[in-house]
Amino acid sequence: MKKFQVSAIVLAAAIVISSCSRPLSPQTAAPNKGLKDYYSKYFPIGVAVNINSLRGADSALLVKEFNSITPENDLKIGPIHPREDQYNWRNADAIIAFAQRNNLKVRGHNLVWHYDSQTPRWIFEDKDGKQASKELVLQRLKDHIFTVMNRYKGKIYAWDVANEVISDKRDEYLRPSDWYKICGEDYIIKAFQWAHEADPAALLFYNDYNEIDPVKREKIHRLVKSLKDAGVPIHGIGLQAHWAINEPSRGQLDSTLSRFADLGLQLHITELDISVYPKEHNARDRKAEDANTSFTPEREQAQIEKYKMCFELFKKYRKHITSVTFWNLSDKYSWLDNFPVQNRKDYPLLFDQKLERKKAYWEVVNVVK
Ligand code: GLA
Repeated sequence: MKKFQVSAIVLAAAIVISSCSRPLSPQTAAPNKGLKDYYSKYFPIGVAVNINSLRGADSALLVKEFNSITPENDLKIGPIHPREDQYNWRNADAIIAFAQRNNLKVRGHNLVWHYDSQTPRWIFEDKDGKQASKELVLQRLKDHIFTVMNRYKGKIYAWDVANEVISDKRDEYLRPSDWYKICGEDYIIKAFQWAHEADPAALLFYNDYNEIDPVKREKIHRLVKSLKDAGVPIHGIGLQAHWAINEPSRGQLDSTLSRFADLGLQLHITELDISVYPKEHNARDRKAEDANTSFTPEREQAQIEKYKMCFELFKKYRKHITSVTFWNLSDKYSWLDNFPVQNRKDYPLLFDQKLERKKAYWEVVNVVK
């Protein structure tokens, strides 16, 4: 081989190696690639949406970056089924039609939830306004599940069947919700069985928050294992992943994913966001220091590191994690703007208020590029 041929080969190899190891940035990235493309070998990348996400710049960003959606509120029992004889299909129909047109997967959220403001009272009351019997509550739950799942059969591939049924109190196992007080644990079991009957092809999940807490994590594990051992159709655990700059630690997240992975079910990260404020689990009144809401370089850096760590671990558990969904599209709007403190601006996502990619976006991309 002639000398110049050898040096040409060496040069070409050097170019290939350096382009592989160089981190991607706005300057070096392919213009048409989105987050979903970088992660295509790993898992779908989803986002929680509402009707406003289907228009204009939001919808363009959604379709470029994501390949899965979850209606943020529009499938919840309160908004969709506010009275026994009334269903509001409009928003959910529009979101699911949008998904079909754009070839997006849809996660359904959710079939049973305790949350007062999004679970209607009529379910728990009989015609005289007294507490409904267990039979009546279960019959209503069954009708609800069949009606909603039949309508979207084949269009929603996975459902959060039960949301947040575990108690946050250390010594209490299941949350003493109206569902539980009237039906005991049966409402959870029946919800999974009916969901499976209604659409045998749908993947069924148990979904909860603060899943990184060792005590709560064990209760989630106990519930899911007991359902699985009893032959109840359940296919996975949804980790809501409402996290923050100070938690989870790498060790905490690693042990959470490893603990859940040992159940042999799928894991979905269902509601990911990383608040720039230290985590608080309960709503509270505003304090003087809440006026400081700027997205400082320190907050930005802490968020970048947390996002990077999370995606490194998602990559490590890629055999188990089969979907990662962000809870909202951009920092323009997030539920965290009003939680735990009303009207305190947060910046929990990968796109800023102008829908531009943040630095954290590139860190997440560079985990797998
Ligand atoms: C929980 C629920 C979600 C949503 C968020 C806040 O995580 O599962 O549906 O209500 O709270 O937006």
